[in-house]
Amino acid sequence: MAILHGLSPAAVESSRVLEVACGDGANLVPMAYAVPSAEFVGFDLAHAPVERGQQRIGELGLRNIRLFQADLLAADRELGQFDFIIAHGLYAWAPEPVRDRLLALCSELLAGHGVAFISYNTMPGGHVRTMLREMMQLGAEGVDSLEEQVRAGLQFLHFVCEARPADDPLRAMMENQLQRIENRSLAATRHDEMSECYHPARFLDFVHHARRHGLQYLCESGLPGPNDPCYREPVQKALEEMAEGDLLKLEQLLDCLRMRGYRETLLCRAERAVRRDFPVEQLRRLSIASPAAAEPGKAPGATAFVLPGGIRMESNHPGVTALLRELADAWPHAIAVSKLEPRLAEAGLGLEQDGAAWLIRLAIAKMIELRAWSPPLAHGITERPRASACSRQEGAMRGRATTLLHTTAVFEDAKARHLLGLLDGTRDRSDLITAMSREFPDEPPAELAEGIERGLGFFQAAGMLES
Ligand SMILES: C[S@@+](CC[C@H](N)C(=O)[O-])C[C@H]1O[C@@H](n2cnc3c(N)ncnc32)[C@H](O)[C@@H]1O
Repeated sequence: MAILHGLSPAAVESSRVLEVACGDGANLVPMAYAVPSAEFVGFDLAHAPVERGQQRIGELGLRNIRLFQADLLAADRELGQFDFIIAHGLYAWAPEPVRDRLLALCSELLAGHGVAFISYNTMPGGHVRTMLREMMQLGAEGVDSLEEQVRAGLQFLHFVCEARPADDPLRAMMENQLQRIENRSLAATRHDEMSECYHPARFLDFVHHARRHGLQYLCESGLPGPNDPCYREPVQKALEEMAEGDLLKLEQLLDCLRMRGYRETLLCRAERAVRRDFPVEQLRRLSIASPAAAEPGKAPGATAFVLPGGIRMESNHPGVTALLRELADAWPHAIAVSKLEPRLAEAGLGLEQDGAAWLIRLAIAKMIELRAWSPPLAHGITERPRASACSRQEGAMRGRATTLLHTTAVFEDAKARHLLGLLDGTRDRSDLITAMSREFPDEPPAELAEGIERGLGFFQAAGMLES
């Protein structure tokens, strides 16, 4: 996103990355594993998660990452300069001095073309959470243990919902929120709904806060999704009139239409020139990948491209279909825009003409991903497949794992979990069948063999098999 917006941050492979309030390093450790030539530093106030993270790092033998316990209020320039600074789940959950120190530290430590990623709960969606939090805390008054407080709070929310008329829109909204809360772990609910500190920030207030520390709004961590009101022409026109050319005000107004409750904002130094027109020369610095599979379309001559989540796009544009077919064959690998450019031009999608806008449109629709680096992914499924040691370690713990693409793959099935643990690069297919039969003796070998092929296909497509 920073490159698209005209910046030249350090190459991912040679960058220094800091994560403030890194917890147990669940975000940082897989990055350090996937990018061994970069350097990663993380700290958190809490001892226990940091110790867990340090143990993981020791088990993986990683030498390019350091986690330590520290208070952000005491962190200073001694940490050195960083190309990327991350603070997820901190800004809205910490008292004012900590919030202020976070932005001050970003200002002190961020390299010239560096990028800071800060997530925070925002308005107006943040008000909805405030309402439910207040009710939960009221319902939990007088209850001792935190665990029981969560239960009592949730029970009270259900009671409130059920006391309201069945067709009440407020009840529907609350039920929706309750579903969100109940889908999360007890620990997460305890932190998010019962903790004292909760300061959702208005977008403009956050940006002004950053400005006081010499930082400016670059963009969000991703392009707005295809249904975002910013793409609706009459809405866009009306908002532009109201905002009178002030991009930040426009974003703030849009947050009302979005009922936005959460942002992942990227900041950079105030003196950087930010481009909002996605210049072609910046696009040429990226690679493209597509997780969409091609199949015959419904309309004659059309091809359908289907994302793993089921979203499909049909096209009969020869340039677009040829591009997406090539990318589907390459997945999970990406192809450099500069390499695709001649073929795009031949198909009438020259980047200097319509091609760049097409690529952005495909990225908005999530049909393609733009990447700034190449993860160390396997080319195909090799004779003795090896899944990343980091994902094997994580998978054994939780039935889900961070992939080399830094996405999360979920595989709760016991056989898939066991198979993942076996993929250390020493076993060929027959060794895998033998080892799986030992663990699942009642399963016929032919079915196990089929399951192994399916599992390998899944791990390969998820970006877990390494070169
Ligand atoms: C909601 S958790 C987020 C953890 C992690 N970033 C994640 O996304 O899983 C908030 C974290 O902020 C840490 N924290 C709170 N105040 C801090 C401070 N003053 N200095 C460093 N870390 C702090 C807490 O210990 C906790 O791990």
